[in-house]
Amino acid sequence: MSAYAKELNAIIIGAGPAGIAMAYRLKHDLKFEDFSIYEKLDGVGGTWRTNTYPGCGCDLPSHLYSFSFNLNPNWSKELCEQPEILQYMDDTVDKFDLRRHVQTSVECVGATWHSDKSKWEVHLKDIQTGLEYVRYASVFVSAVGAISFPRDVKFPGMEKFNAPMFHTARWDHSVDYKGKRVAVIGNGCSAAQVVPAIAKDAGFVKQYARSGQWFHARPNHVYSELEKFIFRWMPLRQRLLRLQIFLAADEETTTYFPTPKGQKARLAVEEESKKYIRSIAPKKYWKHIIPTFPLGCKRRIFDPDYLESLNRSNVELLPEGIQEMTETGIISSSGINDDFDIIVLATGFQVAKFLTPMQIKGANGEYLQKQWDECRGAQAYLGTHVHNFPNLAIIFGPNTFPANNSALFAVETQVAYAVESLFKPLIDHRVSVLEVKQAAEDRETNAIHAELVSTVFAGDCSNWYIGKFGRNAASWPGFARSYWMRTLFPDWSAFNMIGGSMFWPFYRVRRLIRCLSPLTQVLLSVFVVAVASRPSVAKMIPSVIQNLPTVVKSWFAQYIQA
Ligand SMILES: Cc1cc2nc3c(=O)[nH]c(=O)nc-3n(C[C@H](O)[C@H](O)[C@H](O)COP(=O)(O)OP(=O)(O)OC[C@H]3O[C@@H](n4cnc5c(N)ncnc54)[C@H](O)[C@@H]3O)c2cc1C
Ligand SMILES: NC(=O)c1ccc[n+]([C@@H]2O[C@H](COP(=O)([O-])OP(=O)(O)OC[C@H]3O[C@@H](n4cnc5c(N)ncnc54)[C@H](OP(=O)(O)O)[C@@H]3O)[C@@H](O)[C@H]2O)c1
Repeated sequence: MSAYAKELNAIIIGAGPAGIAMAYRLKHDLKFEDFSIYEKLDGVGGTWRTNTYPGCGCDLPSHLYSFSFNLNPNWSKELCEQPEILQYMDDTVDKFDLRRHVQTSVECVGATWHSDKSKWEVHLKDIQTGLEYVRYASVFVSAVGAISFPRDVKFPGMEKFNAPMFHTARWDHSVDYKGKRVAVIGNGCSAAQVVPAIAKDAGFVKQYARSGQWFHARPNHVYSELEKFIFRWMPLRQRLLRLQIFLAADEETTTYFPTPKGQKARLAVEEESKKYIRSIAPKKYWKHIIPTFPLGCKRRIFDPDYLESLNRSNVELLPEGIQEMTETGIISSSGINDDFDIIVLATGFQVAKFLTPMQIKGANGEYLQKQWDECRGAQAYLGTHVHNFPNLAIIFGPNTFPANNSALFAVETQVAYAVESLFKPLIDHRVSVLEVKQAAEDRETNAIHAELVSTVFAGDCSNWYIGKFGRNAASWPGFARSYWMRTLFPDWSAFNMIGGSMFWPFYRVRRLIRCLSPLTQVLLSVFVVAVASRPSVAKMIPSVIQNLPTVVKSWFAQYIQA
């Protein structure tokens, strides 16, 4: 138990990158130990444990797609694949002694805020035994991810198909696709990785794609032992590389803006992409692949040899959707009938339905999903706080997704914000309950949506950013760095702050001292003793002690007035 407060504890749901980052900050930056993470999978890593389809990997350089508190000098290449990223997640959890806080194979089914107790009642279910139970916590953190719940696609006759059919995020490794006829539905980032990976062994791969995609070259440099040695022994070099990748990725976001500079840059990148597509893909597919919507409307794809695979004799691209499924295969929207041994649904995720299917009940007795339905989709103050839901923090929440940058940067930024805006005031006894004001949440959300309206995300294409109410609940409209700046210092006027102690500044000093390293604590003590033992200072001590009651009294009077 942390030495801070007997009463204070936290429950985090999800042990993906967001849950891991939250745990690290609480344990190592705040020295706060009273938290548990509940994870429905049988291990940590989130996305990288769920997605094990052939070819699965990162499309952002791994030196940036890694935690700022655990840089990895050993990345094998620029863009690493899923097994290496999952290993890194596991290693991070062990290195920082976080595993003992994680309970796996436990699903959170819901949570209810009790104003009388100032606690969250969290409903949990042991996946192996089916046993349901309850835990209470002062703080509830949702780190359940957003690109994790497969989209619930329904095709007529789907239930008739009598061979294996699975989503990319539920890949069935017991099914051998060697020499088989495989259908892949969809052409997003997942499909672009699956098609070339399985085409090497499958008998035939037919891909159903309703629209085009912007593809870009994806050079993938393999790091030499010398480079890894330099990263290991010259960490500054690695930090610099990370900064360069971050700034370059952020700069590319300019292409998504409606400004003249943005439009010019976008046209140039679109031209480059067209050239790239024409240089590799078979000519017969050009008109289907090259999009009519602006770059960025759908998430752009860094080509993992997908276009090259379209040249193979065993790969066919059908630019159509699905009319129906039969016992033996698929009838395309124009009536083309094909038989398959396996159908792969690369049909994406339910991104806009944040926190589902958990049933979260707030201070007014209403469910979060109902509140969000009534305001046209998910919204949260700076993606993190929701009115009526006190002491709740959402990580990777609504409108926090960086256009073009690392999700891990966004997640870490949000974790830092939740620590500043929620955990520190609670630990310091500055408040016992903190809730964002509806006016602040609405104001911030409206400003974001006003900016988003003129970005490429609102272009003429189907994408996973836009929810059922036509609002983009996913994207942050600006640079990744602007989200970081926006969340750097909490604006306390945005919150209703209830309870707490008038002595909170003392608790803050206590926390600050506790959070110092042991060496700094010793040096500080030596410094204080040295200063106090100076004759001039020693002379002042009795008068300071004499005046202390008056100072405390006036502080008390001010506090009562406030
Ligand atoms: C295939 C794929 C590739 C990607 N590649 C990139 C990339 O290259 N660059 C990039 O920036 N982003 C990428 N992303 C986005 C990716 O989702 C984020 O980078 C990152 O994983 C988000 O971390 P998270 O912890 O918020 O969510 P997740 O990684 O999704 O983790 C959430 C965790 O919460 C658990 N959970 C959910 N609900 C419950 C519940 N009710 N009870 C208990 N546990 C629960 C889940 O099981 C999961 O382990 C990719 C996504 C996918 C699907
Ligand atoms: N690092 C990486 O390289 C990587 C890899 C995988 C995923 N990701 C992340 O995960 C996100 C999701 O990627 P994703 O490829 O899984 O999903 P996605 O981008 O949402 O793509 C889903 C695909 O399925 C199609 N589809 C959906 N419903 C359909 C239906 N009813 N009939 C026919 N086709 C249908 C869509 O077609 P339409 O476009 O026509 O609707 C689209 O082509 C990415 O944007 C990215 O953020 C990243």
